[in-house]
Amino acid sequence: MKVLYVASEAVPFCKTGGLADVAGSLPKALRLEGVDIRVIMPKFGKIGNEFRQNMEHIYSGEINVSWRSKFVGVDKYELDGVTYYFVDNEEYYNREGFYGYDDDAERFSFFCRAVLNLLPVIDFWPDVINSNDWHASLISVFLKLEHMGDERYQNIKTMLTIHNLKYQGVFPKDVMGDVLGLDWKYFNNGDLEFYDAVNFMKGGIIYSDFISTVSRTYAQEIQYEFFGEHLDGLLRSRHDDLYGIVNGLDYDRYNPLTDKNLFETYDIESSDRKRDNKEQLQTFLGLPKNRRIPMVALISRLVEAKGLDLIVRMMDEILQHEEIQFVMIGTGDKVYEDWFKGLKWRFPTQVSTNILFDNTLAQRIYAAADIFLMPSSYEPCGIGQLIAMRYGAIPVARETGGLKDTIQQYDKYTGLGNGFLFANINAHDMMYALKRALSAYENPEIWSQIVKNAMETDYSWSESAKEYKKLYEKLMAK
Ligand code: GLC
Repeated sequence: MKVLYVASEAVPFCKTGGLADVAGSLPKALRLEGVDIRVIMPKFGKIGNEFRQNMEHIYSGEINVSWRSKFVGVDKYELDGVTYYFVDNEEYYNREGFYGYDDDAERFSFFCRAVLNLLPVIDFWPDVINSNDWHASLISVFLKLEHMGDERYQNIKTMLTIHNLKYQGVFPKDVMGDVLGLDWKYFNNGDLEFYDAVNFMKGGIIYSDFISTVSRTYAQEIQYEFFGEHLDGLLRSRHDDLYGIVNGLDYDRYNPLTDKNLFETYDIESSDRKRDNKEQLQTFLGLPKNRRIPMVALISRLVEAKGLDLIVRMMDEILQHEEIQFVMIGTGDKVYEDWFKGLKWRFPTQVSTNILFDNTLAQRIYAAADIFLMPSSYEPCGIGQLIAMRYGAIPVARETGGLKDTIQQYDKYTGLGNGFLFANINAHDMMYALKRALSAYENPEIWSQIVKNAMETDYSWSESAKEYKKLYEKLMAK
């Protein structure tokens, strides 16, 4: 089975979000399942020299963007047995950032066209093209509209994986002719039209053979108006072809026994060393040293979707009444950044506010924390809770999307479960879930059982990679 996996970012080359974690670990896992999978992505300026130096340049040529012709190059790089291709065009991709430029419609429609036009160059004819998110959504559209005359393309099946429906790639309608070079009839018939603008993801949903999302629950949720981002009707109409496969975690990369960022490495057997991590982190962050005090952590982008308003509403009260330490790290919207700075000012001995992006510190917090707060208002899959559980930090999370699919509510009667969930977007509900966690923490026997449950649950890619493979097989038979 041959699969071309198209993503705009992948760890370790470059990353802005969770997509990069998936694109950097799922292909590796599928490889172990015997799938010949290769990855193709733009050659962004942010990709480090350590990789660039060892890329093999395999092609230079040109591609039409509507009425004009643009340079395209392809570089190749092997990693963990997976071949990565990088689509090169300095003008489009060699910039400070990744997305959010005025010509994004051009940059990513160019990318989608390039991927298809370069198949003869890389000489890889996939059974399945699995594209990810809006950046790669137009591949299914261009394949059906521009390549069906060529029999080498006729049997290629497409699957679009949605990591976050909120980001759809919506642009002014005049990109239709001048940038996409598509007939206006595909706007007028609604295929690409979305409230009088052009929507890349909508096109991807309509033209892909299968659509998948990153958890089963999210695949259900997006068919409702609340989560549907104005595409719920379309998604309902395609529900027979819509699947959800939960993301796994890269177990080589995230392993408390080998993680070089930690003060002390540990595993289930040596979980007392987790306490050492806590103590050393307290010293590092200038908090009072105390092995017993429950440490609650928030490691998150600071945006509304992460449910931060619930924390803003409740955290003062919680800190006044509960003997806990609260440690946060993340950057994002200024209102939240300022609020967390204020919280530190109000509770200097209980709170550590770290408005920054620092992988080492983040890993140290996962290792030190007892409780991991993730009150997201929606969460397609989420990776924080997976890392937290592997590092023995117990999630207190809202029951939505991937959080619902990966965390089992702790049940004090059976002793089963690895987290504490709450259902409504409600600050008091979050607080009660946190209180349940804190009261379990007071009983060391119960708590070590919960920690054991969390650390023993298998969140590696092995099961999900098998599911992807099965889905690709089903798609090929379609
Ligand atoms: C997006 C989603 C997140 C998911 C990630 C990887 O970032 O918001 O929930 O874990 O993609 O699929």
